Amino acid sequence: MINQTVQKALNEQIQKEFASAYLYLSMAAHFEHENLPGLAHWMKGQAKEEMGHGMRIFEYINERGGQVVLGAIEKPDADFGSPAEVFQQTLEHERKVTASINALYELAVKEKDYPTQIHLQWFINEQVEEENTAETILEKIKALDETGMHPLLIMDAQLGKREG
Ligand code: FEO
Repeated sequence: MINQTVQKALNEQIQKEFASAYLYLSMAAHFEHENLPGLAHWMKGQAKEEMGHGMRIFEYINERGGQVVLGAIEKPDADFGSPAEVFQQTLEHERKVTASINALYELAVKEKDYPTQIHLQWFINEQVEEENTAETILEKIKALDETGMHPLLIMDAQLGKREG
């Protein structure tokens, strides 16, 4: 049987993952509205990934004989700034998610919940990738901005190639 304190924190993490999906979907809607379909495509892919993260924890709680209790998801922002500002916000958001995963891991250590520690290792690795990806895209957008040469169209074409 899963530790109840850990279960509560895992349920909260499911909520955070789906809230992330909703935030990125809102960013996708913003890019669609700005006629940047490549950036929108990338954000839609990101939203799907976040739902996948939430589902990993959902399935894990059930495997451990626990109970999934879903929390409310707040309305995300609808107005975003320039693409650089959107990716700055994405990076900051991912840093918060990393802190949340790390706190969850620390709790699993404190509660001597070894299976949860192992399960969370995937998320710890994933957060390294998530932060790195957001930072790389942000830096590319900033560099393209400085050239003054249709930066967004180049970036839009690149991000439009995302698979999955
Ligand atoms: Fe689920 Fe972007 O971390």
